[in-house]
Amino acid sequence: MSSLEQTLSIIKPDAVERNLDNEIKDIFKNKGFKIVKEKKIQITKLEAEQFYKVHETKPFYVDLCAYLSSGPIVVMILEKENAIIANRELMGATNPKDAIEGTIRKKFGLSIDKNSVHGSDSIDNAKIEINFFFKD
Ligand code: CDP
Ligand code: MG
Repeated sequence: MSSLEQTLSIIKPDAVERNLDNEIKDIFKNKGFKIVKEKKIQITKLEAEQFYKVHETKPFYVDLCAYLSSGPIVVMILEKENAIIANRELMGATNPKDAIEGTIRKKFGLSIDKNSVHGSDSIDNAKIEINFFFKD
């Protein structure tokens, strides 16, 4: 079954810092994603802690929040049939070392923490994450 979905994508600081945001946006567009909304912002550590609250008990949480707030990011609402799973597939595995050829993390990811992109992992989280960045 297919349905038109929206998902939240973030181009993380390591990729924006390397000026890869336009190249990554082109990958999404070429794969049929519509960029419904986008903005380049820098978030505070507190905002990063709220965004990644689901991971607050994990050993990598503190570093992750420091990292996501360390520089500019590009946040986007992506729309496509089955956007959530399609984006997860296009992103590739969390650890770029495990990501398969043709994925964004394989191509651009530097390490498990500097893995270039974020994508929502479920319909519920997509709604929460879209609302987090695009409340209006
Ligand atoms: O981003 P994804 O959904 O693939 O992975 P996650 O398990 O939800 O973890 C969120 C983020 O935490 C990852 O994208 C990594 O940047 C970071 N992480 C980390 O630094 N070290 C780990 N062992 C696992 C995740
Ligand atoms: Mg995740």
